[in-house]
Amino acid sequence: MKDFWNERFGNEAYFYGKSPNQFLKDSAHHLPPSSRILCLGEGEGRNAVHLATLGHQVTAVDLSDEGKKKAELLAQEQHVSLNYIVADLATFDFGDQKWDAIISIFCHLPPETRQLVHQKVIKGLKTGGKFIIQSYNPEQLNFNTGGPKDINMLYTKEILLNDFPAFSWKKLENSMEEIQEGIGHQGMSSLLSGIGVK
Ligand SMILES: C[S@@+](CC[C@H](N)C(=O)[O-])C[C@H]1O[C@@H](n2cnc3c(N)ncnc32)[C@H](O)[C@@H]1O
Repeated sequence: MKDFWNERFGNEAYFYGKSPNQFLKDSAHHLPPSSRILCLGEGEGRNAVHLATLGHQVTAVDLSDEGKKKAELLAQEQHVSLNYIVADLATFDFGDQKWDAIISIFCHLPPETRQLVHQKVIKGLKTGGKFIIQSYNPEQLNFNTGGPKDINMLYTKEILLNDFPAFSWKKLENSMEEIQEGIGHQGMSSLLSGIGVK
């Protein structure tokens, strides 16, 4: 997996672009000023850098060293700093009641890892903390516009409601949207977007 992502991020161009994901951008007003934020599977850093430009204290975690290099370059370009940790989310310690928000943008994980990671999201968020997620849903298999081809790595409302039984959801919905994010995500896409509150 690490080799796959390092190869994908090993070129000069940003595979998912330098601009933040639109859903994250639109959801950022839910975050209190100077929030302590953890970004999961942050790749080349577009979302973490955006949150840092808004004045938040951002930590990013990802398997990819190449992703880290590019995220740090992007942070430099935008005159912000990031704490980017190269680690596997399955073993990374999220801490306890530590984060005001945890962000998961297209961080598609196999079921066992996803469940484990979501348990750590629950423990790691402060009470009242927010989990902001956008992923592809299984309908995305009908499109060739991005995301994993394995249905087990695509998320549904039911999966999130099961993984986070005690969360309240400010938003949890499927949508069809045209997205343009680098060369990685291009065209009509079937998305699941959520803002859960611990
Ligand atoms: C589709 S990319 C999304 C990157 C970024 N969130 C974005 O929207 O631009 C998925 C990312 O998840 C990371 N990833 C996948 N499995 C991981 C794991 N077990 N631990 C840490 N990172 C992981 C990959 O390295 C990759 O950067």
